[in-house]
Amino acid sequence: MNVVLVCVLWASAFLFQEPARPTTEQPAEAPAAVQKAENGEPPAAAAVQSPLPRSSFDPIKPRPERTAEERAKFVEELRAAYAKPSSEWPAPTVDPGVEWKEVGLLPKPEHPADNPHSKEKENLGKTLFFDPRLSGSGQLACASCHDPDLGWADGRVSSFGHARVPLARNAPSIRNTAYQPTLFWDGRAASLEEQAVQVLMNPSEMRADPADVTTVLGEQPEYRTQFKSAFGDEAVTIDRVAKALACFERSITSGRSRFDRFAAGKPETFTDSELVGLDLFRRDARCLNCHSGPAFTDGKFHNVGLSYYGRKLEDLGRYQQTKAAADVGAFRTPSLRDITATRPLMHNGLFELPGVLNMYNAGMPTLRPKADQLDDPLFPKKSPLLRPLGLNRQDLGDLQAFLETMEEPRQRVWSPDLPGLHKSRLSPAVLK
Ligand code: HEC
Ligand code: HEC
Repeated sequence: MNVVLVCVLWASAFLFQEPARPTTEQPAEAPAAVQKAENGEPPAAAAVQSPLPRSSFDPIKPRPERTAEERAKFVEELRAAYAKPSSEWPAPTVDPGVEWKEVGLLPKPEHPADNPHSKEKENLGKTLFFDPRLSGSGQLACASCHDPDLGWADGRVSSFGHARVPLARNAPSIRNTAYQPTLFWDGRAASLEEQAVQVLMNPSEMRADPADVTTVLGEQPEYRTQFKSAFGDEAVTIDRVAKALACFERSITSGRSRFDRFAAGKPETFTDSELVGLDLFRRDARCLNCHSGPAFTDGKFHNVGLSYYGRKLEDLGRYQQTKAAADVGAFRTPSLRDITATRPLMHNGLFELPGVLNMYNAGMPTLRPKADQLDDPLFPKKSPLLRPLGLNRQDLGDLQAFLETMEEPRQRVWSPDLPGLHKSRLSPAVLK
């Protein structure tokens, strides 16, 4: 074997097995197990190897790859089909009863009647977003965990909260939250305003005392002026802090990705692989059943098999809010825009994109009850919208190529000047 070939094999092994988290339960290896099963080994092998607890995958044999000639012909058909307006694109594969919307350009975000947009409020919200004085410790800003340099997330499996306590879930990006009907992975906040208050007060997160925060901010003349221009008078209240933060968050949206250029009527933007990937996403890979509409989410809750029910990493998701058995292990469908910038993925941050695609291809894990769980009314049920797909390697590469087109171009977002604390960039003299 020559050196080049060895390198390629070595690199491709890592592409499909990126480790996500050093834990005793090693759940991040699941995709590797699926990868094996998908390559034709019997499902039992996947079940044995799967570190996902008492779960198994039931992959089906991958369909044959297209020859170069077949692919060229198929691409030609797709080019013609997708050059048309999206209302004339091939019908997507969605199950009966599923409400879906076509993917495409995001509309302008809507601001609620009780918190209308103004540039002054948005700017105040940006300053507050970067200000650590919003936290009880004076150390944590919203931007600590929603960092613009990291796709407005934090690049971690799960975040560190107050006093560096590890939190249970992966920090989502705040980009495009304007389009989510509920906030948090389990939808426990009904608006961005409500969400901001919850995170400020949460003792594990920012642990703020509202009286302290408003006093500290109100002591700064520059803040008082900013509150006046945003709200009409100088009063600094938690309600106004939340409104300004929410107003700012609604201004962080996607719209400059290659996908957006494609959707804006430039089909030539996509390579063949990306175009085939879009078609797979809408049809054979069945993704549009849940990731639909311009933000690539139906805003609903689904169990995709990652509840870790009865295990150390158990997360009951939406059930914690509704107490409905059907919601055990259900999480709100995340947007798929810019996910390449916000890895690792999923509510627990345990997965990388190739692993996620392998798991979907195998129908996602199915939990198997232990003997004493057979009559457990809360035993989680996976969404019936998920099923083994039988996609081959060519398909998976195309699907990934398409998802990558949603990456937003990187933009330098400078931290704003924080009143009374510091100017946005320390001068070399200060750094000495
Ligand atoms: C210590 C890290 C940390 C800090 C600080 C933090 N967040 Fe978060 N944020 C998270 C995590 C983790 C979640 C997901 C929690 C969950 O879903 O249960 C989250 C969720 C969110 C969401 C919901 C996103 C969605 O898709 O539903 C918004 C919006 C948000 N945070 C905004 C803020 C704002 C505004 C602040 C400052 C007031 C803030 N965050 C401070 C870690 C943090
Ligand atoms: C049954 C609804 C459903 C279907 C069908 C579905 N998804 Fe998901 N998807 C979800 C939910 C819910 C989550 C979050 C689950 C969690 O964290 O436990 C998710 C998470 C993801 C994530 C991680 C995003 C992030 O920010 O962490 C990716 C990537 C993804 N899905 C891609 C796909 C692709 C590609 C397809 C088609 C092959 C697909 N999904 C089909 C509901 C679905």
